Amino acid sequence: MTVEVLAFIGGTGPEGLGLAARFAAAGHEIVVGSRSPERARQAADSIKARVPQARVAGVANQEAVRKGDIVFLTIPFAGHRDTLEALASAIGGKTVVDVVAPVSFEDGRPTAAAVPEGSAAQQAQALLPKAQVVAAFHHLDASRLARVEQPMETDVLVCGDDRAAKEMVMALAEKIEGVRALDAGPLANSRYLEEFTALLLSLNKTYKAHTSLKIVGIRSGPKG
Ligand SMILES: NC(=O)c1ccc[n+]([C@@H]2O[C@H](COP(=O)([O-])OP(=O)(O)OC[C@H]3O[C@@H](n4cnc5c(N)ncnc54)[C@H](OP(=O)(O)O)[C@@H]3O)[C@@H](O)[C@H]2O)c1
Repeated sequence: MTVEVLAFIGGTGPEGLGLAARFAAAGHEIVVGSRSPERARQAADSIKARVPQARVAGVANQEAVRKGDIVFLTIPFAGHRDTLEALASAIGGKTVVDVVAPVSFEDGRPTAAAVPEGSAAQQAQALLPKAQVVAAFHHLDASRLARVEQPMETDVLVCGDDRAAKEMVMALAEKIEGVRALDAGPLANSRYLEEFTALLLSLNKTYKAHTSLKIVGIRSGPKG
C-alpha cells in the first residue's frame, strides 16, 4: 500500500502539529483534523509557515479521516473513546497510529492513568475492530518536534499486532530525521509505552528538560 496522505485527528495540538510538520518536511501530504475546521486551517497555515514546501490542508476530523491513507490520533485521552466512536465508520479498515498517553496530574505530578482495556491503543483496537491499530511516537516531545530544522536523535518504539501495519509505521517513523524505529512487540505492550510517558514528563519536570528515549545495545534488525 502506498502511504502518501497522513491525517491527524486533533492535529491542532502541539504533538499532532509537530509530527505533521516533520512528515510534511519529509514530503508527505498532511491533513490536519480538528473539531473546528477554522482551527484546522490555522494549524495548516502554521505548518506551511514552518515548512514552505508543505502540502497541507486543515479540515474537520471526519473529513481528515476520509482523506488520510493512515490516521494519527493526537488527542487527549479524555476525548479518546468519544472521538473514536464518532469516527469509527469513517476509519473502517485503515491503519491507525495511536500516540495518546493517558496521563493525569496528581498534585502536579504526572501519573499514568489506568485504562480498562489495558492501554489507550488497546481501547482504540476494541472500538475499531476492522482497523490495524499501531502504538507509536509517545516519547517524542512536542517542543523538540517543533524545531523542524533539528534532527530528533531518538528512538521510536512501535507496538502492533498487524505485522504489515507495524512495519509500515516503522518505515514512516524513520522518515523523520534522526529517528530509529524499534519493534516493541504486540499491541499489548503499548501500555508500557504509554505509562513510560508519565516518567519522561516527571523527568522533564525535575530537570526542566525535554527528554526523549534512546535504547542502547541494539545494533542490527530483529532476529526471528
Ligand atoms: N505534547 C507532547 O509533548 C506529547 C508527547 C507525547 C505524546 N503526547 C500525547 O499526544 C496527545 C496529544 O498531545 P497534545 O499535547 O497535542 O494535546 P492537546 O493539545 O491537549 O490536544 C490536542 C488536540 O486535541 C483536540 N482535543 C482536545 N480535547 C479534546 C476532546 N475532549 N475530544 C476530542 N478532541 C480534543 C484539540 O483539537 P481541536 O480543539 O482543534 O479539535 C487539541 O488541539 C496526548 O494524548 C498526549 O498524551 C503528547
